[in-house]
Amino acid sequence: MTTALITGGTSGIGAAFARALAARGDDLVLVARNADRLSEMATELKERYAVSVETIAADLAVRDEVVRIAERLASPEQPIDLVVNNAGFGFRAKLTAADTTPHEHAIDVMIRAVLMLSAAAGRAMRQRGAGTIINVSSTASFVTMGGYSAIKSWVTCYTESLANELHGTGVKIVALCPGWVRTEFHERANINVGWIPDFLWLDADQLVADCLADAAGGKVISIPSKRYKALMMICDQLPRRTLRAVSRKLTSSRH
Ligand SMILES: NC(=O)c1ccc[n+]([C@@H]2O[C@H](COP(=O)([O-])OP(=O)(O)OC[C@H]3O[C@@H](n4cnc5c(N)ncnc54)[C@H](OP(=O)(O)O)[C@@H]3O)[C@@H](O)[C@H]2O)c1
Repeated sequence: MTTALITGGTSGIGAAFARALAARGDDLVLVARNADRLSEMATELKERYAVSVETIAADLAVRDEVVRIAERLASPEQPIDLVVNNAGFGFRAKLTAADTTPHEHAIDVMIRAVLMLSAAAGRAMRQRGAGTIINVSSTASFVTMGGYSAIKSWVTCYTESLANELHGTGVKIVALCPGWVRTEFHERANINVGWIPDFLWLDADQLVADCLADAAGGKVISIPSKRYKALMMICDQLPRRTLRAVSRKLTSSRH
């Protein structure tokens, strides 16, 4: 019996992970802030897939609440086999803004919580010699488009470093780097998506299936879809100054 813990498992990519994992028979632990949505999701999954679903309402921007989730991950009586550090959000804030709190809030949720939860899960899994940690990064981690890009660059680099640290222990580590996915993400962050062509949108269920296949196959970086794999290969070859110029253009087209 496998148990998976998913942060942000009530919406978008996290909900797609929850459904895919429940469909294959995994028990789940779902973490998010909104308790009503957590219990709706738990009811849906229990009725549809007959799995057990535990819910923990927690705000991952609050350190003590992250500690609570880390303690759940460390439990030897109720081990967690798969962790998806997925909770996150988009935000637009100038790097030179006088008020840096939007950046700090994003760092708390998408860096500090990922660090603390991966560390707790990594320790427990290394001891058992098995387990999988999937950190949801973004293709934004390969470009230079503001605070969000910088945070996701950290997630990708950190996850590759974690894979090195746990190499040979039996623990699988994956950085999932999706392109644009239709979820609540853009509306919540008030991001204009009108200019994004249809072919650049990914399907959440498909990308989760691709990511789980990559995890099973031992891949450390999972970039779902051939089109994004090709785009990221091009990004990788560009001189940094060209990449910055492209990033500048993309950033200004979002406003
Ligand atoms: N959508 C895209 O185009 C895209 C592309 C690349 C990467 N991503 C990444 O994918 C991940 C999931 O995003 P999504 O597109 O699925 O967004 P979404 O539909 O808005 O879902 C976000 C989830 O995270 C939870 N969450 C947000 N802040 C939280 C906090 N402080 N504490 C606990 N839970 C929190 C939300 O639940 P509550 O509000 O109830 O807390 C929700 O379940 C993020 O890390 C995002 O950066 C998204």
